[in-house]
Amino acid sequence: MVQELRFDNQTVVVTGAGGGLGKAYALFFASRGANVVVNDLGGSFKGEGAGTKAADVVVDEIKKAGGKAVANYDSVENGERIIQTAIDNFGRVDVLLNNAGILRDISFKNMKDSDWDLINTVHIKGAYKCARAAWPHFRKQKYGRVINTASAAGLFGSFGQCNYSAAKLAQVGFTETLAKEGQKYNILCNVIAPIAASRMTETVMPPDVLANLKPEWVVPLVAALVHPSNTTETGSIFEAGGGHVAKLRWERAKGLLLKADDTYTPGAILKKWDSVIDFSEPEYPSGPADMVTKLENSLKMGSNDKGEDIRFDGKVVLV
Ligand code: NAI
Repeated sequence: MVQELRFDNQTVVVTGAGGGLGKAYALFFASRGANVVVNDLGGSFKGEGAGTKAADVVVDEIKKAGGKAVANYDSVENGERIIQTAIDNFGRVDVLLNNAGILRDISFKNMKDSDWDLINTVHIKGAYKCARAAWPHFRKQKYGRVINTASAAGLFGSFGQCNYSAAKLAQVGFTETLAKEGQKYNILCNVIAPIAASRMTETVMPPDVLANLKPEWVVPLVAALVHPSNTTETGSIFEAGGGHVAKLRWERAKGLLLKADDTYTPGAILKKWDSVIDFSEPEYPSGPADMVTKLENSLKMGSNDKGEDIRFDGKVVLV
């Protein structure tokens, strides 16, 4: 008999669960036995306004289906209140899905400080505050699972979204560090770059593409990652959407190691530029340790060929 991945007796906090991906997570985890905190501020996708309806509708749907859920209407900036809702109603928190998000798309030239600040507040401070409030509970019970939400815009850049891109790549660094600090306490943290049809994407993708990008198609990866049976996958970045799932990682080119003395000039680097950008023998770094070994090796090297006649365009003398 095929068994379901279950989350009985666990409490899952989903931020931004009033719509889109968050709603899909909330419905799924409730259907698999979890107590769910359905957090949503209930504002517009630009972060304006607030309301209780978005979260209430999802809680009602879960309860009607026989599940257990409670609403929370706080902004993720007040993460401690969201986690407190889990503790007050269910006595524990096991899983945190940092999902809430907004957009303030505008070209960099026209970006206002308020557009920059609000995006950073919701995405970075919001994820931090929720995780910070959950962390002592996770440590005490020696169990916790966190998913943070990045974006292709953060990983690769996206025209008109420099505020959002910056905040989304921040989720990667945040996750990688939480994973390192949490591992000893069985707290596993991963970050996803989803793609799904939602009010955020409905105006930027054609209808036939959107039709194949149900938020429900991001849920299975998240469920697998936060299930107790995952004991090893942490600190990882995944793309997910429309049936596609793939892990991403950092890749380092072969690179160049030169003696760090007064022969270490721009010309010395340019002379061996091919090595700097040579990905034919890549490394996949996951921490600074291997860099320290490289730097130690550089101490033992002889002086460099300064490459006096080298420049990118090969025209003039440069050292
Ligand atoms: P959505 O707009 O449908 O859902 C986001 C939810 O977060 C909304 O219900 C909103 O009310 C809530 N929210 C916004 N600010 C909040 C705050 N301060 N506190 C609490 N709740 C708040 O958008 P979608 O597409 O479901 O996005 C979910 C996450 O996935 C976001 O972090 C988004 O940036 C990210 N994402 C989505 C992609 C997609 O293709 N849909 C692509 C890449 C990333």
